[in-house]
Formats: sequence, C-alpha cells, structure tokens
Amino acid sequence: MRRRLIAANWKLNGSGAFATEYADAMVPALEGLDPAVEVAIMPPAILVPTLRDALNCEGGRRVMVGVQDVSAWETGAYTGEIGALMAADQHCSFAIVGHSERRQYFGETDELVNSKIHQALAAGLDPILCVGESLEEREAGNTLSVVGRQIERGLDGVPGSDWRHVCVAYEPVWAIGTGKSASAQEAQTVHAHIRSLLADYDRGASEIPIIYGGSVKPETAEELFAQPDIDGGLIGGASLSATDFAAICRAA
Ligand code: G3P
Repeated sequence: MRRRLIAANWKLNGSGAFATEYADAMVPALEGLDPAVEVAIMPPAILVPTLRDALNCEGGRRVMVGVQDVSAWETGAYTGEIGALMAADQHCSFAIVGHSERRQYFGETDELVNSKIHQALAAGLDPILCVGESLEEREAGNTLSVVGRQIERGLDGVPGSDWRHVCVAYEPVWAIGTGKSASAQEAQTVHAHIRSLLADYDRGASEIPIIYGGSVKPETAEELFAQPDIDGGLIGGASLSATDFAAICRAA
C-alpha cells in the first residue's frame, strides 16, 4: 500500500497568531480522518516551532510539520540558509525541495536540488521533490521530457534504502496559483509517466507517493485523488484555510 500524503505549503504567509488559531481549528476538523492519510504542514520556517507546539498541545491525530526548503550545505557560513539537520532538530518530518518558485526566483538548478535531496535524507527528513513544466514547455509538447529530466537529475544517487522516505510532487507551473488545475486525466498521465520512470530505478522507487499540486481545491480534490497514480496533494492557497485544507485531506 503506497503512502498517501496531503501537505500544506503556506509559502510566505502566516504569523504566530495565525499558526496557533490554525492548529486550534485543524484538530477538530480532522477528527475521524483515515489514520493512513499522512497530513503535514509546511509554514515559513520561522513559524515551525509555534505551529508544532500548537498542533501537539491540541492532542488529536498527528499532524506533522516540515520546511519549504533546505540548504544544500549541512552547516557553516551560509547566511540565511535553513539547515536540514536544524529542521530535523525542530521535529520536522518533511522538506519541500525544488519548488518551481525556488527554481524560478532563486535560480535553483537540478544539480542544486539534488544536493538538497541528499541533505534532507541525511538529516532524516522525507524530501518532497517538486517537478513540473511551464506553460511554454507544455505547449511545445515537452512536458514528459522536462519532468523526466527533473526526476532523473533530482533523484540521482538516492540509495535503494532511502526510497521509502522520498515523495515526488508533480506541480505544473501553469496551474500553480492560477485557479486552473490540471484536469484529473492530465495529471494522471504525467503521474503515470513518473511512476514508469521510477520503476526503472527499482521496485522500491516505483512505490513512492506521487502527489499533485496546482490549484487543488476542496471541490476538485476527490477526482484528482481518485486517479490510480495520484497519491495525495501539495496544497498552496487552499491550505491557508484550515477548513478547506481539512476538506481536501478528507478527499484523500
Ligand atoms: O506547493 C504547492 C503550491 O505550489 C500549489 O499552490 O496555490 O496552486 O495550490 P496552489
């Protein structure tokens, strides 16, 4: 049985008060949710301790926390970076790596992303490798080749023993923040391709969760998550509402 994961990416949003109020709302909202569904929230890193403590003190089901990025370096003179070991030290379980916004705004290359994947794994975090094509790349018919390159280079050197910690998020850039999600079939086609690429690595790789991100809403989540190769979602805007995020978790 593959892992099923619903993860919230708050991006550059929130505050201490917001995180506390969000946690207060989340715990009752998730009551009765299938315990097999993993739920994780990635606030801005500075809010991780506040959110973690607010979620834990509420009791209820385990909602994990994570970071939206980690450094390619373990430690040292790298001002402003977020160390994977530090994230693990603060009880993070996940790290988003290679998000399209970091590739776009901060020039992250596949090689840098691969270094971050290895840092996350070495620290005991489960990395969520983000891949996805731009609108131009899709319109040029290059979706599968772009995603294939990102998968191959991003996961280069991952040992067989670590596949159980790896997640992949397919996030078509043209669907992020636009309100225009990929259709369930469009997403399934790319997820199936990713699954076939992973199967070429080894059996362990073919069973890792592949989650979808890009304008997922409560009203679209169920059809997306019903697809055979969509194992959950990476939720941006909709995750800023505890009610909407909980509704999406219930669709998993
Ligand atoms: O990482 C998830 C994010 O990129 C999706 O954003 O707002 O389209 O759900 P959104």
